[in-house]
Amino acid sequence: MELKIKNLNDKLIQAHLGGGQTRINKQHEKKKLTARERINYLLDVGSFEEIGALVTHRTKDFGMESQQFYGDGVVTGYGTVNGRLIYIYAQDFTVFGGSLSETHAEKICKIMDLALKVGAPIIGLNDSGGARIQEGVRSLGGYADIFYKNVQSSGVIPQISAIMGPCAGGAVYSPAMTDFTIMVEDTSYMFVTGPNVVKTVTNETVTSEELGGASTHSTKSGVAHKTSANDAECLEDVKKLLSYLPQNNTTIPNNLPFELKDEIRTSLANIVPDNANKPYDMHQVINGIIDESSFYEIHENYAENIIVGFARLGGRSIGIVANQPLFLAGVLDVNSSKKAARFVRFCDCFNIPLLVLEDVPGFLPGTDQEWNGIIVHGAKLLYALSEATVPRVTVITRKAYGGAYDVMNSKHIGADMNFAWPSAEIAVMGAKGAAEIIFKKEIKAAKNPEEKWKEKEAEYASLFANPYSAAERGFIDEVILPIETRRKLIKAFSMLQNKEVDRPKRKHGNIPL
Ligand code: HXC
Repeated sequence: MELKIKNLNDKLIQAHLGGGQTRINKQHEKKKLTARERINYLLDVGSFEEIGALVTHRTKDFGMESQQFYGDGVVTGYGTVNGRLIYIYAQDFTVFGGSLSETHAEKICKIMDLALKVGAPIIGLNDSGGARIQEGVRSLGGYADIFYKNVQSSGVIPQISAIMGPCAGGAVYSPAMTDFTIMVEDTSYMFVTGPNVVKTVTNETVTSEELGGASTHSTKSGVAHKTSANDAECLEDVKKLLSYLPQNNTTIPNNLPFELKDEIRTSLANIVPDNANKPYDMHQVINGIIDESSFYEIHENYAENIIVGFARLGGRSIGIVANQPLFLAGVLDVNSSKKAARFVRFCDCFNIPLLVLEDVPGFLPGTDQEWNGIIVHGAKLLYALSEATVPRVTVITRKAYGGAYDVMNSKHIGADMNFAWPSAEIAVMGAKGAAEIIFKKEIKAAKNPEEKWKEKEAEYASLFANPYSAAERGFIDEVILPIETRRKLIKAFSMLQNKEVDRPKRKHGNIPL
């Protein structure tokens, strides 16, 4: 009996050592934690239960039979984060560079299955050289098994990917199909083909960091939703993100304790400048409305003309989509439409109510946008909001022009409560351009065309550059003072909490991808 227990202990010690102390030291030299250190950091103390610690690979080729490491390059199991059950896998770079073998994939699939059956979030900590080269197609099959399960879990349980080392080749497609990808700066990268292949095929010279580092994916491609300075910060980011999410699509996120007081926020009174052409920072509006310091921004440095992120309002978790007048005057373009649409769909999957803050001069004109498909990409946001059944509330702070008025959670596409500040301008276009088009002949025939133009501009502005025309038709439910916005929104979301919407039976819609 004692011998058997000794055997077990020896094996577990070996499993904990991964690829050995030298390789662990190498990991630390690169300022990376090991797989087990990462899990211990993220999970509540003592809560981790490992599954499959003694799994080994089955490869006999290339002398692999004699190279066996318990766990086979990935630590898998379950535990709690702030008391909530989660499933986790962490690739162990010290074992064959964290590369994915058939058995490594089976271990990941096993906990993906459990997470889906039980209905709890799954977190993947990626640090891997990709497909285990010695295993050929068995490894490729393993990836495909994971991809398939990512899709089956999509919209059912939250899936979060942290990229904490290399992530190359087809390996990038599992994170891409999860809900959020967070990358560690300087030590992680993601690309379909690395710099060497790029050089051979396109003759471009590029470093790994330039091609697929955290900065590239958080600013240029939008593949990364967030970046973190180091492993510890990345794991803190995962924890924070989880706090806004429910366990699965049949539950709602935890509400924090909250008691309604007067909720008047004077800081909101003077944010919008009198001059309609002057920018302001929509973050000020967001922070003035939500519970203190609760904003968790997603895609902070990508398509900055739109802001998306989670916050707490009256203790409730909400998703915010807001035009940002500070960048490109807050126009909708290809990237901002894609960014916002993806976020809206996530919130709708997981019962997170949506607040839309609107100050949008329209869609960005030009050949660049048209040739890159602004029609189809703009339609993504229109579609995503139109199909969302979570409580949806809009506040128009200033401009709501043209098609963008329709798209940005108008009542016509199913928003539940639409507020406007007195500074709102709701029209087909700006007064100057409108006057030029509809009074063209009159302006031309006038003795002083410039003066006439100004007169007509003022006429159009007084009719439409305000929220009242829309409020008279019921397109706006209420014109409210900025200082009372927080109170109005807390009450509106509370009123909407039991909202239910029936949709016609169908397999799924056909969002313009
Ligand atoms: C087997 C691998 C491996 C792999 C690394 N190792 N990648 N073993 N299969 N894919 C092993 C190394 O042999 C080494 O073993 C150890 O892991 C650490 O690797 P190093 O190269 O010493 O580390 P480093 O210098 O940090 O470089 C890391 C790396 C590099 C950039 C990831 O190892 C690398 O380029 N690996 C290959 C990447 C790749 O081409 N993968 C296949 C992608 S295609 P020892 O014993 O020396 O410690 C793909 C297709 C999937 O993934 C398609 C799915 C649809």
